[in-house]
Amino acid sequence: MTDNNTNAPASPATSESRPATARRTGALLGHMDVPGDKSISHRALMLGALAVGTTRIEGLLEGEDIHATANALRAMGVTVIQDAPGIWHVNGVGVAGLHAPDDVLDLGNSGTSARLLCGLLAGHGFTAIMTGDDSLRKRPMNRVIDPLTQMGVRVETREGGRMPMTFTGTDMLLPMIYTLPVPSAQVKSAVLLAGLHAPGQTTVIEPIATRDHTERMLTHMGAEITITETPEGRHITITGQAELSPAHVTVPSDPSSAAFPAVAAAIVPGSEVTLEGIGMNPARAGIFESLRDMGARIEQTNLRDEGGEPVADLTIHGSALTGADIPASRAASMIDEYPVLAMAAACATGTSRFAGVGELRVKESDRLATVEAGLRACGVSVETDADSMTIEGCGEPPPGGATIATSLDHRIAMSFLVLGLAAAAPVEIDDIRPSETSFPGFAESMRKLGADIRDAS
Ligand code: S3P
Repeated sequence: MTDNNTNAPASPATSESRPATARRTGALLGHMDVPGDKSISHRALMLGALAVGTTRIEGLLEGEDIHATANALRAMGVTVIQDAPGIWHVNGVGVAGLHAPDDVLDLGNSGTSARLLCGLLAGHGFTAIMTGDDSLRKRPMNRVIDPLTQMGVRVETREGGRMPMTFTGTDMLLPMIYTLPVPSAQVKSAVLLAGLHAPGQTTVIEPIATRDHTERMLTHMGAEITITETPEGRHITITGQAELSPAHVTVPSDPSSAAFPAVAAAIVPGSEVTLEGIGMNPARAGIFESLRDMGARIEQTNLRDEGGEPVADLTIHGSALTGADIPASRAASMIDEYPVLAMAAACATGTSRFAGVGELRVKESDRLATVEAGLRACGVSVETDADSMTIEGCGEPPPGGATIATSLDHRIAMSFLVLGLAAAAPVEIDDIRPSETSFPGFAESMRKLGADIRDAS
């Protein structure tokens, strides 16, 4: 692996920051409409852009990260239109039909936009310059650049494989067989999307299974994909230079966003919260298994298939939680949910250990560091090393009473607001704005359940 994390602190909150405070609340009760899945929304727009004809998307996440993808596609000649709230259509230009953007593509906070677009651009013989916000410009891009360079693209980055970067694709891509050095659905997807443009077959081997939304949607749109399980991992093979058919895509509610009201309900005594139509793809649902391991009462009903993805309704009850060992084997299926699970662990009785979580160091912030610093500030005992985190549960409301640096990280912002609902003293975050990347209207949705979350809006 050639990328690593700088561990540099993210930029401090600015004068435009919007602090927010969460206070200990009575029982959370009712239903919440959880926004659409971020991963699936990115893919629906990008694959819709490559299809020939109009793709209709229902339940698209209307968060900032998705707008970053939509705007980048528009800058390359794709029509992306909102017909009604959550209902969008994309007029695809066909595989290799994008045109060169005439300005820098600014992908904001969105690592998924940046990395998947590299795969999309690989087969186009033009140059695009990509950048992002202070958080995204710290994140390693070599993990996608390495395989794509082997396929024939040329990329220049800042030191350490960081954006801004100048990316030049080619219409003469070479197919390849690539074994993922880190479990990353973004890298897998980038190589498969590049493979769509290459002659012959491109294979990604993933020793540890990661979210498979790209494979599912490519299949849904008529691409030729084969998946075989072998002792060395999953082999995913795509046949390139095929056409994609436009499709109707239904986006389930995001399990990663559902994790916030789910943990809030689990840690606030007497709560009963229902979340409907939540994505239950096994490669995403590890958080619910982990909460159950901690003693949370979660009822799952109405498991069904919507647009090729399993979804279900969940009702979460306030419960006395106990610490749990979360094995490394579960990390890929809940990689974005460790920050909020850490809040549950802080409220539990006993010790929780999260193993195999080193990838958290290269997310929107170094999440092992931001969670550790925030929990300590709230009076919770926590230790981390390169690849694990250990939390001593308080067994009673954690002290709280701190202001947390969110470091441009939406999941850190929302996690600590969740903690504040159960902590003895209020928890303030320095900026709630990052939550708009994945969960527009988070504070308002939580207030409807009875949460005491106040912000300056
Ligand atoms: C994502 C994959 C994960 C996840 C991210 C979304 C995706 O990243 O953390 O929020 O949509 O493919 P990695 O591929 O880096 O694990």
